[in-house]
Amino acid sequence: MAPIDWLALLHPVLIILFVYPVVGATIRLGILARERRLKINPLPPSVGIEHGDHGRWLTGGVVLAVLIALDYSFIHRFLDRATPFAGGAARLGLLLLVSAGTLLAYAALWFVKKASLRASFALLTWAGLLALGSQKEIWRLADNPLTGEFWGSHYWAGVLLTGLLLFSVAARAEVLRSMRMRRLHVSANVLVAVLLAVVAITGTRDLLAIPLSWQAPALRGCDPTTLQCAPTISSQAFRQALDQAVKDAFGKRAPTAIAPGLVAPT
Ligand code: HEM
Ligand code: HEM
Repeated sequence: MAPIDWLALLHPVLIILFVYPVVGATIRLGILARERRLKINPLPPSVGIEHGDHGRWLTGGVVLAVLIALDYSFIHRFLDRATPFAGGAARLGLLLLVSAGTLLAYAALWFVKKASLRASFALLTWAGLLALGSQKEIWRLADNPLTGEFWGSHYWAGVLLTGLLLFSVAARAEVLRSMRMRRLHVSANVLVAVLLAVVAITGTRDLLAIPLSWQAPALRGCDPTTLQCAPTISSQAFRQALDQAVKDAFGKRAPTAIAPGLVAPT
């Protein structure tokens, strides 16, 4: 595998090794926080604090992993000589700068206390991801929610779930205080749990569909809409076809030798 193929694995590996285990712990701690509030289980208040802290780390892991996936797509297209990268190195630099800014916005969300600042930095982080994801180098399957493909899009499920997690981080203080926000929080995170399953399935599907860099040139003749690939031709069949084409073109005036090893039949 070339270094660029290893880079493609960074996103799924980070999600599998870090994000999904933390998801398990976050959900368990959330259930314990509920049992504590309803006095079903005599637990210390630390379960709620631990749940919120796990949620913050989980959201940070997801934001970082998504940025890695997006930047991988840009770097991959930039290095691929077969497809021109609009804007060249200057645009790639700008996109990487926006990625760094998005990560900084999440870091700021971690520290700010005022409700308006929390809302602003959560929105800024999400807007950064959406702006990067709207670039034409990003494979989105479909952008129209009225089509079936949209609901099978790894990208859209991924950014929607990231937005919902950012909302939970931004509204942490309000979830703690208000019953209404708590209900909204639980409903939003039931959807998050469903989306986590969707991205696990669609991500694994996409991993199967992406060829290694040395295989990519051979697959350029494949059409994903008709699910057909141009037939490959053996060197013997190629020589026969070429000989026939030469014979047809030159007729009786065919030269005896066109190139070393390639003799037109008389
Ligand atoms: C997989 C994602 C998540 C799930 C399934 C989840 C679920 C829950 C549940 C079931 C509760 C208890 C609600 C109740 O008392 O009725 C809760 C409470 C809470 N959640 Fe989450 N949550 C998730 C992510 C997050 C995130 C990302 C944050 C923000 C950092 C967060 C912050 C809180 C807070 C502050 C509480 C109140 C804790 C307390 O009562 O002490 N949650 N969550
Ligand atoms: C929390 C879970 C996940 C989220 C939020 C997420 C989100 C995203 C996003 C937004 C992209 C960018 C689309 C693009 O560059 O084309 C992406 C790409 C990708 N994801 Fe995920 N993903 C998650 C989990 C997974 C998992 C579990 C796998 C595989 C096992 C996976 C495999 C991929 C692959 C193969 C790509 C395209 C190549 C790349 O950019 O690295 N993802 N993901």
